[in-house]
Amino acid sequence: MAKPTFWLRCEKKEFERRAALTPTTAKKLIDSGFEIFVERDEQRIFDDSEYEEVGCKLVEHNSWPNAPVSTPILGLKELEEKADPLPHTHIQFAHCYKKQGGWSKVLSRFHRGGGTLYDLEFLNDASGRRVAAFGFHAGFAGAAAGALALAARRKGEKLGLLTPFENETAMVNQVRANLGGSGKGVKALVIGALGRCGRGAVDLFRKIGLDEDDILKWDMAETAKGGPFEEILNVDIFVNCIYLASQIPPFVNHESIAKAGAQRRLAVVVDVSCDTTNPFNPIPIYNVNTTFDKPTVPVEVGPGNPPLDMISIDHLPTLLPREASEQFSADLLPSLLEFPDREKARVWTDAEKLFKEKLAEAAAVEGL
Ligand SMILES: NC(=O)c1ccc[n+]([C@@H]2O[C@H](COP(=O)([O-])OP(=O)(O)OC[C@H]3O[C@@H](n4cnc5c(N)ncnc54)[C@H](O)[C@@H]3O)[C@@H](O)[C@H]2O)c1
Repeated sequence: MAKPTFWLRCEKKEFERRAALTPTTAKKLIDSGFEIFVERDEQRIFDDSEYEEVGCKLVEHNSWPNAPVSTPILGLKELEEKADPLPHTHIQFAHCYKKQGGWSKVLSRFHRGGGTLYDLEFLNDASGRRVAAFGFHAGFAGAAAGALALAARRKGEKLGLLTPFENETAMVNQVRANLGGSGKGVKALVIGALGRCGRGAVDLFRKIGLDEDDILKWDMAETAKGGPFEEILNVDIFVNCIYLASQIPPFVNHESIAKAGAQRRLAVVVDVSCDTTNPFNPIPIYNVNTTFDKPTVPVEVGPGNPPLDMISIDHLPTLLPREASEQFSADLLPSLLEFPDREKARVWTDAEKLFKEKLAEAAAVEGL
């Protein structure tokens, strides 16, 4: 019988150095009887040789369209925008189930090719929680970006280009150095502190040397009284990490900032949740997502008041490609091991059912 197979494709998105499958998880699959093909990719944080050493078969960069149609293609981010039909099975984030721009065009490629999409965002465990998500490192990197912005602001500067860090230690060392050796004395507030992103943000603040008392950790209980919250204005960095599920009063707004006047301590807001265009965004003080080359935008604070920088980058884990990939891939592994049994394994049957529903909607829109 042929061995079960995965084909790890390259990523074509700029700055994307993460991988859905790392050499560590590839080895575990190989040890369980899988055959793993890996496209050569210089952009990936893991060297091709790291995959080869654990027994993966290296194949040409971006050659998956020529892979046997029965071979499932594993990737992370969207495929390049093209119109070609897609006959393979793809496991990836496709960002096309919530009617994002171009959603029906993406799905129509599967319709025309007869392929299947298993969207990583919708692989859930029996309790409805995602089996694998990048939250922890989003919070970790978001808090680091916030601390770097604070360090820049203290020098009267704006935070410049952010590029992926080789590893977590390199990121922590850089933040510490920019803050003069340690973050001691900095005060931070994390909302959503019990969640994946929130735990990552708290971890970064601990690792750069903040006193435990200077890391305020809020979740549902603390925000139940309803915002805006004065406490936010009395810290240096506020990191929002909530999962927004319904309309809530704003945590902070232009009025509360103006009211704090010149005494305001708050210098940086990091919105990891990035509900930027959501009408219920609890941080209605900005309206754009910021980017790695321009990580901050100034918030309108009223005349004579100290500046306030806003960070709202929606792909933060990219800054920590190695650890973020390792954690994501390890969490995905049990589901990947079940993939050969995907006609019965609930995680995969649910994902396929959702795909078929979305495919039908797209076909109707596209008139197919
Ligand atoms: N910017 C990025 O790069 C990036 C990356 C990954 C995830 N995210 C986003 O971050 C958000 C959080 O993701 P997660 O995986 O950490 O979610 P999660 O479900 O693990 O955690 C969310 C936390 O928010 C808390 N919460 C919800 N509403 C709250 C409220 N009103 N007040 C206080 N706490 C509240 C919950 O109790 C929970 O502890 C999501 O919107 C996700 O899309 C952003």
